[in-house]
Amino acid sequence: MKNKKKLIFANLKMNLNSNSLNKLIDDFLAKELSFEDVDVIFAPPVIYLNEIRKKNKNKNFMLAAQNVFYEDSGAYTGEISPLMLRDVGCEWVMIGHSERRIHTLETNEMINKKIISSSKHNLNIIFCVGESYEERRNGKTYEVISDQLKRGLRDINEKQLRNIVIGYEPVWVIGSGEAANLKDIDEVHTFIDKQLNIMYPESSIEPKIVYGGSVNNNNISDIMKIQNVDGVLVGNASLDTNKFCDIVITVGNLND
Ligand code: PGA
Repeated sequence: MKNKKKLIFANLKMNLNSNSLNKLIDDFLAKELSFEDVDVIFAPPVIYLNEIRKKNKNKNFMLAAQNVFYEDSGAYTGEISPLMLRDVGCEWVMIGHSERRIHTLETNEMINKKIISSSKHNLNIIFCVGESYEERRNGKTYEVISDQLKRGLRDINEKQLRNIVIGYEPVWVIGSGEAANLKDIDEVHTFIDKQLNIMYPESSIEPKIVYGGSVNNNNISDIMKIQNVDGVLVGNASLDTNKFCDIVITVGNLND
């Protein structure tokens, strides 16, 4: 069963600096948005997690890392472990974003190790899947997504699903300015839901599925009306406080 809480992730990617990020968070906090049925999760570059956490005295939002490594500690130069994320008060981690699959050649097997290790340390996980333009054009969307789900969640048991959210992000739509069409989002989210039911037939836990890819303050309302859309992952529009707050307000008012 899913609770009705909607999730809004701000994926700030490798943008901003200490000054501009602090301003963005201050501006967000100044709006004093609070909706019972919405969780806002900021994913800043990892180096700023600690300083942003200190601003969040009233727990107006949660924090996510954009990546993690799968070992707890040791000789892994440049990497950050799930324990370290927990140590700086980070509650969430994004795993398998297409930009990491593309630019750092992250494989389904690495993604799986990261999910297992993060789950062991009780981080909430947003596990991203999505097809490329080429794959969609060749009619491979469902095959690709099913493969990503199966390989990414290998050895993850039903209980561990409690801390996992699936992020569906069609790769070519990310950063394009135009979201996927509503029918495609609907079909893929329904497919993911069914796939998870097949993979976990006994499970009473149904992971939430959030959509990402050019979500903005104009299309948010239509996207959230789709069944099986439990929230959104926002990239570009999260860099503009007004647009981002509009998105949060729209989602917050949905159940009114
Ligand atoms: P976008 O990015 O909103 O800029 O398309 C979304 C994402 O990559 O998570």
